[in-house]
Order: sequence, then C-alpha cells, then structure tokens
Amino acid sequence: MAHHLQGLILLGWCLSGAGAADFSHVLHLKLMPQCTSCHPRAATSTKVEDNLMPRPQACAACHKQVSIKAPRKARLAKFDHALHLKLGNIAPVLKAAVQSKAYLGDPALVAPYLDTKNACAACHHGIEQSTRVAADSRALYPQMADCLVCHNKIDPPFSCELCHGDDKGLRPASHTADYLDAHTRRTVVKQGCAVCHGRKFTCLGCH
Ligand code: HEC
Ligand code: HEC
Ligand code: HEC
Ligand code: HEC
Ligand code: HEC
Ligand code: HEC
Ligand code: HEC
Repeated sequence: MAHHLQGLILLGWCLSGAGAADFSHVLHLKLMPQCTSCHPRAATSTKVEDNLMPRPQACAACHKQVSIKAPRKARLAKFDHALHLKLGNIAPVLKAAVQSKAYLGDPALVAPYLDTKNACAACHHGIEQSTRVAADSRALYPQMADCLVCHNKIDPPFSCELCHGDDKGLRPASHTADYLDAHTRRTVVKQGCAVCHGRKFTCLGCH
C-alpha cells in the first residue's frame, strides 16, 4: 500500500495543488479512533506554543513520506490542554448552555457537533466530519463563547487577560474613539455585544 500511496501523498501535500489528494480525518479515524495516536503531545501540553501536530513517525506504518502543515496560530496567550482534558468530555456542558440560551456566541457554529463522545472533538468542532485539510481552519477550533460557558466572569478589559494576556488589540474596529457617545445613536445588534460584554452588563451604571 505504501508504494501505491506515495505519489498521491506528495501531490496532496503540495499546498497549491488544487484538487489534489488530501488528508481526511474521517478516513483515518476509522483506522485509528484515538486522536492521541497521531497527536500524542496534546494530552500533556500546558502551553499554547506547543506544536501538537503529528510527527511523520505517526504515519510511518502506512506511508513512506508525508508532509504535515504547521499549526494555526490561535489568538491566545494561555491554554492548557492537560488541565482541561482532566474535565472529561465537556460537550454536554456546552450543549446545556446552548439549550438554556446562556451560550454567548452563535449556536449554529457549535450545536451540530455537541453529541460527540470524543473529549477532543468537544472543543475541536467538526474535526470528526473533516475530509480535507482546511484552508481556513478557524471553525475546527473552539469559539471564545465555548470558553465563556465556564469562565463566565466578564469585565472588559480585566477579565480578558486570563486567556489573552496583555493583547492590546481586543477592542473591535467598530469601537472608534467616540464610541461611548456614538453607541447611543447607532442601531446596534445587542446579540453581537454579549460575547465581550456579557448579557447582564451594567456598563458604568447606565444600563
Ligand atoms: C491518522 C492521524 C490522525 C488522527 C487519528 C487525528 N489527526 Fe488531527 N491531524 C492529523 C494531520 C495529518 C493533521 C494536519 C492536516 C490537517 O490539518 O488536516 C491534523 C490536524 C489537526 C488539527 C489542526 C487543524 C488545522 O488545520 O489547524 C486539529 C485541531 C486536529 N488535527 C485534531 C484532531 C482530533 C481532535 C482528533 C481526534 C478526533 C484527530 N485530530 C485525529 C492527523 C490525525
Ligand atoms: C477545552 C477545549 C479543548 C480540548 C478539550 C482540546 N483542545 Fe486542542 N486546542 C484547543 C485550543 C484553544 C487550541 C488553540 C491553542 C493552542 O494551540 O493551545 C487547540 C489547539 C490544538 C491543536 C493545534 C495547535 C497546535 O499548536 O499544534 C491540535 C492538533 C489539538 N488542539 C489537538 C487536540 C487533541 C488531540 C485533543 C484531545 C486529546 C484536544 N486538542 C483537546 C482547545 C481544546
Ligand atoms: C494505519 C494506516 C495509516 C496510518 C497510520 C496513516 N494513514 Fe494515511 N491513509 C491510510 C489509508 C488506508 C489511506 C487511503 C488510501 C486510499 O485508498 O487511497 C490513507 C490516505 C492518506 C492520504 C490521502 C491519499 C489519498 O490517496 O487519498 C493522506 C494525505 C494521508 N493518508 C496522510 C497521512 C498522514 C499525514 C498520516 C500520519 C499523521 C497518516 N496518513 C497515517 C492509512 C494510514
Ligand atoms: C467545562 C468548563 C471549562 C471550559 C469550557 C473551559 N475551561 Fe478553562 N478552566 C476550567 C477550570 C475548571 C479551570 C481550573 C480552575 C480555574 O483556574 O478556574 C480552568 C482554567 C483555565 C485557565 C487558567 C489556568 C492556566 O492555564 O493559567 C485558562 C487560561 C483557561 N482555563 C482558558 C480556557 C480557554 C481558552 C477555554 C476555551 C478554549 C477554556 N478555558 C474552556 C474550566 C473550563
Ligand atoms: C476563557 C478564555 C477567554 C476569555 C476570558 C476571553 N477570550 Fe477572547 N478569545 C478566546 C478564544 C478561544 C478565542 C479564539 C482564538 C482563536 O481561535 O484564534 C478568542 C478570540 C478573541 C478575539 C478575536 C476574534 C477573531 O475573530 O479574531 C477577540 C477580539 C477577543 N477574543 C476579545 C476578547 C475580549 C475583549 C475579552 C474580554 C471581555 C476576551 N476576549 C476574553 C478566549 C477567551
Ligand atoms: C453614559 C451612559 C452609557 C454608558 C456608560 C453605556 N451606555 Fe449603552 N446606551 C446608552 C444610551 C443612552 C443608549 C440609547 C438608549 C437605550 O437604548 O437605552 C444606549 C444604547 C445601548 C445599546 C443598544 C440599546 C439596547 O439596549 O438594546 C447597547 C447594546 C448598549 N448601549 C451597550 C452598552 C455597553 C456594552 C456598554 C458598556 C461597555 C454601554 N452601553 C455603556 C448609554 C450608555
Ligand atoms: C470583540 C469584543 C467586543 C465586542 C464584540 C464588543 N465590544 Fe464593546 N468593548 C470591548 C472592549 C475590549 C472595550 C474596552 C474596555 C476598556 O478598555 O475599558 C469595549 C468598550 C465598549 C464601550 C465603552 C466605550 C469606550 O470607548 O471604551 C461601549 C459603550 C461598548 N464597548 C459597547 C459595545 C456594544 C454596543 C457592542 C455590540 C454592538 C460591543 N461593545 C461589542 C470589546 C468588545
């Protein structure tokens, strides 16, 4: 099989090769249902900087040559896989938040994936359904609203530090210098504010 695959894999990993053969999580999860068979470092990782992508050795039993893409850089200063994996499968916790309408983000992005039995897929929505390398893999990572189901103390800018460190660019572009005045005049969609301000904001006592 290795000989038969080799050419295709090289082709598949050529980034510009449109229509080329591609890595499929769906296919490989049928052969190896444990995420940690290929991503062993995820179980013990304590830092965002850790590279959790597979090493070529994970493929060696079946493929002679593979090339694996670099991990996406998440906009986070801190995340500890080992600590959160001790909580077990958090999908039911997220599902309960969606159902009670406490979830602060867009439920459509996560609701279809919350019946999973896989503790990793509870955060990595859609990875079990993925059949190719995603050009924009944002959707395969947790949404900020997922984290806020448990980390529910919201008080910008102070509460943001827990996950974002001293990231100074968290103010959305919509928030111009005169935003405090401007926001009372504009027609604002309250739904989109909740993920950063919560639903029960008092905002200096005006609301
Ligand atoms: C057979 C090996 C294999 C298994 C099993 C596997 N993966 Fe992967 N995974 C890969 C490879 C190769 C990549 C890089 C290609 C890609 O991004 O699709 C990857 C990429 C990823 C990424 C990064 C996606 C991106 O584009 O940034 C995440 C997250 C991930 N896997 C999570 C998981 C989870 C969760 C499971 C279990 C449900 C799992 N993987 C099972 C091989 C595997
Ligand atoms: C509580 C949510 C959560 C759980 C559970 C979780 N992850 Fe992640 N994962 C994240 C976040 C957030 C990131 C982006 C930050 C980072 O890289 O640490 C990430 C990043 C990744 C990446 C790509 C980033 C890189 O640096 O290589 C892989 C691969 C991955 N996780 C695999 C797994 C596997 C495998 C499991 C189960 C053993 C798992 N994750 C469980 C939240 C989670
Ligand atoms: C247990 C054996 C096994 C392991 C381990 C394995 N694969 Fe595969 N892989 C397969 C099989 C079987 C196919 C489907 C072959 C076919 O029918 O074309 C495949 C297909 C692929 C393809 C697509 C080629 C095509 O023809 O569609 C890529 C890319 C690939 N694998 C990458 C990897 C990477 C990267 C790893 C390691 C992280 C890995 N595989 C680990 C068995 C394996
Ligand atoms: C199911 C509940 C739950 C979810 C969802 C959750 N966490 Fe946590 N998190 C915890 C618990 C429990 C702790 C440990 C106690 C504490 O520090 O609050 C913790 C601790 C932390 C810490 C402090 C520990 C450290 O490493 O410095 C950070 C940062 C963090 N989580 C980030 C995140 C991010 C980012 C997400 C979303 C990708 C997330 N958490 C999702 C429950 C959760
Ligand atoms: C418990 C963890 C956690 C806390 C607390 C948190 N965030 Fe986030 N935030 C995330 C995660 C996870 C992402 C997605 C990161 C990624 O995938 O790149 C994110 C993404 C973002 C983004 C980027 C959105 C985008 O589409 O690029 C902004 C802006 C942001 N957060 C602002 C804030 C602000 C403002 C606060 C404080 C009110 C805050 N965050 C508090 C976890 C958190
Ligand atoms: C100086 C007083 C003041 C402050 C501080 C203030 N607002 Fe407002 N806000 C107003 C006024 C006045 C209106 C327009 C009248 C109304 O709808 O209540 C408004 C309207 C809004 C609306 C749209 C109307 C609605 O309730 O659906 C939202 C959403 C909103 N503000 C969010 C915020 C947030 C989030 C903060 C804090 C970050 C904040 N405001 C701080 C005075 C204030
Ligand atoms: C991506 C996160 C994010 C979103 C979404 C968001 N805000 Fe903010 N907002 C912030 C941050 C960060 C600050 C600055 C907090 C500070 O430094 O005191 C802020 C400040 C404000 C202020 C105070 C004015 C000022 O100049 O500091 C108002 C009013 C406000 N936001 C209203 C809103 C309204 C209304 C919405 C929805 C339409 C919204 N915000 C959506 C992150 C966000």
